[in-house]
Amino acid sequence: MNTLHALASIGVILVAGAFVAAHPETRKPSPAASPIYGVTLPEGYRQWELIAPALEAAPLNEIRAVVGNRIAAEAYRRGAQPFPDGTVLVKLAWKQQPSAAFATATVPGAPTTVQVMVKDAKKYAATGGWGYGRFVDGKPVDEAQHRTCFACHEARAKEHDDVFTHYAP
Ligand code: HEC
Repeated sequence: MNTLHALASIGVILVAGAFVAAHPETRKPSPAASPIYGVTLPEGYRQWELIAPALEAAPLNEIRAVVGNRIAAEAYRRGAQPFPDGTVLVKLAWKQQPSAAFATATVPGAPTTVQVMVKDAKKYAATGGWGYGRFVDGKPVDEAQHRTCFACHEARAKEHDDVFTHYAP
């Protein structure tokens, strides 16, 4: 390859790189993103503020914790619904497990799902302003499961911006 060729090749690579950077939608969709919504597991959610715990009876027998990012926590404290854009809620879930150390205590066992709701009123206008993602072992579950999210949240939590969880006192 002569120098001119080399320079031309570098030019093509630079232009292509600049194009992808300027047009993020041309990047390949991340395999870690949920179908339909393109929601991913948010970084650092394990350090987020607790909104409320929950228990799910048989047959699932789960312990759950809903946490929120700073925008979510502040909106809850202000009682500001609808939730503002940028709100992210994450629901962690584990199997209920009897404590090996203390007979009457129940502790988190194996993790089951991590579920995410992201508020973007414009992007997700068709689903009440929320994008949904359900993850098992860090990977999104199939499209069929994602078709159920909005319908249930909208049918039963409409008066609270499609969000079931209230701030635990
Ligand atoms: C049949 C009803 C139903 C369906 C379907 C459903 N959810 Fe929920 N979701 C709930 C209930 C009830 C809660 C309240 C917390 C709890 O009981 O665990 C909840 C809570 C949540 C929360 C915490 C915020 C809130 O609204 O309280 C997230 C995040 C969430 N669900 C995501 C999803 C995703 C993602 C899907 C689809 C893959 C989904 N949900 C499907 C009933 C449902």
